[in-house]
Amino acid sequence: MDEFRIQGGTRLAGRIRIDGSKNASLPLTAAALLAGEPVTLRNVPDLSDISNLAHLMGELGCRVDRGEGTMTIEEVDPSCTHARYEIVSTMRASICVLGPLLAKRKQARVAMPGGCAFGARPVDLHLRGLRALGAQIELSGGDIIAKADRLKGATIFLGGPFGSTVLGTANVMSAATLAEGRTIIESAACEPEIADVARLLNAMGAKISGAGSPRITIDGVEELGGADHIVIPDRIVAATYAVAAAITNGDVTLEYFPHDCLLAPIDLLQNVGVNVNRLDMSEEPTRCTVQVTSERRLKPGVISTQPYPGFPTDLQAQMMALLCLADGNSIITEKIFPERFMHVAELTRMGAQLIRQGPTVMVQGVRRLFGAPVMASDLRASACLVLAGMVAEGETIVSRVYHLDRGYARMEEVLNSLGANIQRFNPERKHEPEPPVITTVPAAKAKPSTVATK
Ligand code: EPU
Repeated sequence: MDEFRIQGGTRLAGRIRIDGSKNASLPLTAAALLAGEPVTLRNVPDLSDISNLAHLMGELGCRVDRGEGTMTIEEVDPSCTHARYEIVSTMRASICVLGPLLAKRKQARVAMPGGCAFGARPVDLHLRGLRALGAQIELSGGDIIAKADRLKGATIFLGGPFGSTVLGTANVMSAATLAEGRTIIESAACEPEIADVARLLNAMGAKISGAGSPRITIDGVEELGGADHIVIPDRIVAATYAVAAAITNGDVTLEYFPHDCLLAPIDLLQNVGVNVNRLDMSEEPTRCTVQVTSERRLKPGVISTQPYPGFPTDLQAQMMALLCLADGNSIITEKIFPERFMHVAELTRMGAQLIRQGPTVMVQGVRRLFGAPVMASDLRASACLVLAGMVAEGETIVSRVYHLDRGYARMEEVLNSLGANIQRFNPERKHEPEPPVITTVPAAKAKPSTVATK
């Protein structure tokens, strides 16, 4: 298993471009199951989660052609409807094939995803929504078995104890596109990834309005066709690199930065003393160029994670790394996944002063962190440890970086291109580490567009 060896104390400077969004690409790929024609996605990030889903799409009877940043999906054998546990257990987001399979192929057998490093991850809201559309659903041998002749539109409340559900909304919205009549989803997830899925579905011929708000209306159609779609930039990756600039007192320019999808994290960064400046006000605010700089010790902050447009749970760990070095006490409360604190013990090994009580952590700012061997436990916790390692004194070894590869394409190359000193190393290969790879990430722009190919 690969690990990162990070020499701390470098200051990041330079320019990078943000990749397409993982959490949009996953339900977008699954939505292609609804089409009778090829669907092409562009700006798809090169991540292991995407490869895993592409593999699953192959098992579900689709031909998947991947080029640099593109993926074309075409149905060739609609008789395959089984998403096996072996794949679903590697990536719980595989659940997003359930709604599209059921709507288009009238049946689906999808392994029930288990929990994950940060607690139970139920799918009851997904099932409640699909049952409201008329699906018959039972559990057998650890699989969700869903059937429906033709789904029927309904008014569905999708709120749960922790707010709405992102992939649940994607599943129900996607399924409702082929249902008979009108579906209204109340308490829908408002995340930009949901609005992006709706944009693709509408280009395929669906009739969806209100996506991005808590009330989505879908008027069912008989069939959907192909489309060509550019995936939105990854807001979590963008903000992670903004924190990387801040934590190293750096000066980093980020292109294709989804500024207006990150207003809560930007507000927090600015409140603690980080400069986040849009460089060109004429650019589209969800894909613009932003410069992040920081020159001084930061002030403490208060964070409470919330559904969009609140502060994202997917940035809680990275922001904790930053606040470890603030001048005073910060408070972080996790309201989406109350157990998502695997990074706390690892940061403590690096000298952080953290006191956790239930879903809240008090971060007592320290003057410095110290390099240590630490273990990555999930995607965002891993990113937090890399950030901490870049500013810690001495060497930090982050093991199990396969978690990182799920959501950050070649993270060490991107950070090294900005001046970091990170080596990827596989201890099982028992040879000396390669010298750090310095790669320049091309600074190009892509314009948003979604067009039907019918
Ligand atoms: N929930 C339920 N019942 C359900 C579904 C969810 O109670 O049927 C609860 C969850 O336990 C959680 C809350 O609702 O407390 C929100 O979960 P949600 O369903 O929105 O999470 P998700 O759709 O499975 C996506 C992202 C996660 C991100 C969450 C929250 C993808 C592939 N995953 O997961 O991203 O943390 O939304 O914003 O889109 C990541 O990228 O690192 C990641 C974990």
